[in-house]
Amino acid sequence: MPATLTPQVFPSAEDASAALANEIGNLVRIRASENRSVVLGLATGSTPIRLYSELAQLHRMGLSFANVITFNLDEYLGLERSHAESYWQFMHFRLFDHIDIPPENIHIPDGTIADEDLAPYCAGYETAICEAGGIDLQVLGIGHNGHIGFNEPGSPPDVTTHVTSLNEITIRDAARAFGGAEFVPTRAITMGVRTILDARRVVLMAFGTSKAQIVSEALTSEVTADLPATYLHNHQDATFYLDAEAASMLSQG
Ligand code: PGA
Repeated sequence: MPATLTPQVFPSAEDASAALANEIGNLVRIRASENRSVVLGLATGSTPIRLYSELAQLHRMGLSFANVITFNLDEYLGLERSHAESYWQFMHFRLFDHIDIPPENIHIPDGTIADEDLAPYCAGYETAICEAGGIDLQVLGIGHNGHIGFNEPGSPPDVTTHVTSLNEITIRDAARAFGGAEFVPTRAITMGVRTILDARRVVLMAFGTSKAQIVSEALTSEVTADLPATYLHNHQDATFYLDAEAASMLSQG
């Protein structure tokens, strides 16, 4: 496998998040000085929360996000934006309400699209990414089942933004937030593996002991649809940002 997918292990999740926030801040600043925009692919979940508070802090210290364009990985199908668990709410509460990104630069898949309109809607999401210049840096988490975005085990590599059914581990992981597995949406719109691999740089973050096993498998396994994070072995500039706990099952040396 290519040697590019080497993890960076930080003492804590705070350190890893600050490192990525600083990398993003530097990119935003450089592009602003060139009068160019930056296209970020963003993730939801518990993992990137510290990254977003670090970015909000950079804004309070003077960094403008006026030249930033964002595309979120995914959204549950069937949720209005106003639903407390929609990713639209999450992103605004955690990041967008705290920075000066122009609202028209924010792209989050719309969970209310009617079934018959989903195919053109997903194609349009891809077109918008292309028209923005492609994703410069994609932020990812990893599910306990190895998913990236909602690309669940079994996902093929050559798929762009699409509708998918959530795997039972993903539904179980979301059950608490929704007040029971029966309230978790069963489908989502997600960027595909191809969309993610087309980003110029990919940083997958994983924190805590509960991620140690899947991180170890993702880094040591051959590329397989059974563990979608392994597709990142095929990317020229992908890395894992881990805290010591998530790295605790990696073999030394
Ligand atoms: P988490 O989810 O950040 O809440 O652990 C990650 C994921 O499912 O991709």
